[in-house]
Amino acid sequence: MNTNGTTDTSPPVTPAVTTEPQLMVSELVRHYPVRQKTGIFGKKALLKAVDNISFQVNKGETFGLVGESGCGKSTTARLILDIERPTSGKVVYKGREITNLPSAERRRLARQMQYVFQDPLGALDPRMKIVEQVAEPLVIHKIASGSRAREMATEMLFSLDLKSHILQRYPHELSGGQRQRAVLARALILGPEFLICDEPISALDVSIQAQVLNLLTETSRHMDLTTIFISHDMSVVRHSCSQVAVMYLGKIVELAPNDTLFQAPAHPYTQALLSAVPIPQPDLDRKRILLKGDPPSPVDLPTGCRFHTRCHAVKPICRVESPEFKQLQPDQWVACHIAHGDA
Ligand SMILES: Nc1ncnc2c1ncn2[C@@H]1O[C@H](COP(=O)(O)OP(=O)(O)O)[C@@H](O)[C@H]1O
Ligand SMILES: [Mg+2]
Repeated sequence: MNTNGTTDTSPPVTPAVTTEPQLMVSELVRHYPVRQKTGIFGKKALLKAVDNISFQVNKGETFGLVGESGCGKSTTARLILDIERPTSGKVVYKGREITNLPSAERRRLARQMQYVFQDPLGALDPRMKIVEQVAEPLVIHKIASGSRAREMATEMLFSLDLKSHILQRYPHELSGGQRQRAVLARALILGPEFLICDEPISALDVSIQAQVLNLLTETSRHMDLTTIFISHDMSVVRHSCSQVAVMYLGKIVELAPNDTLFQAPAHPYTQALLSAVPIPQPDLDRKRILLKGDPPSPVDLPTGCRFHTRCHAVKPICRVESPEFKQLQPDQWVACHIAHGDA
């Protein structure tokens, strides 16, 4: 009963809690029309680089996207950042659809969403000194110029452990690790909220990979960044991500929180990837699962489950029916007949 003596059936008013994710990727598809070489004339075909994927990234989270080379990770990154248009599906950032934005709005969003990719040399201008490169986004976005911009760039470079003697150097005069820090400084100078790191340490010497990875993780945390971390290496994702999506030939085959994925991987592909990396898990009986050969061509996908040709647990149904991507337990999503007990 309320104060009027009538029965109030409306739901209790709860304080506004924003549970909306920072980023929502919904049924995203990118197919490339290609020509398959058969004889002199090519046959028109579709390369399914990203083939209907959905996931959410929460604010402040580091979300891992992992899978072998060619499975569609970088395409996904380009679609999210609106560098490339999707065939269908949408990307929602902070509650607003950002797929196909007009160019002025895209530029504004570019300040908030930054992309760090694998090849730091390709991301830097060979003729520009490091301090100028890091200052440049400030000038482009009319935030600062001249000595003020250089001052801000210097501060950012210092915060990423780059010493003053490299400021006046050119990219080719730097080591791989220093270059990747410079690229990161350039991405962070605008104070973004969202960062996609696409294989940021793959091109680096093994000896400095851990160093740069730690720096990335610390910086993300310190700046409260929401990050998508892309890698082909499970052990890298293990170290840095709270949720992980495993991709295979354009599809997400498993999505789970870090602990679940590494302790109870449900998809045979995740199991195979995990068995290939030395991760200390004494309580887990880990059999070595050999992942045979390379993935099939994304132009000519296998029937049924696209992983069946390499799966160690394959059953007859897998060859004919494509498994649905569905919930196995509250946080774990899997596309596999066997994991769901359908086979
Ligand atoms: N512009 C393009 N035109 C045709 N095919 C492309 C294009 N970009 C990527 N691909 C193909 O899409 C697939 C996924 O590529 P990519 O997203 O770069 O994978 P990953 O980053 O996981 O290595 C690959 O087969 C690649 O050859
Ligand atoms: Mg890539």
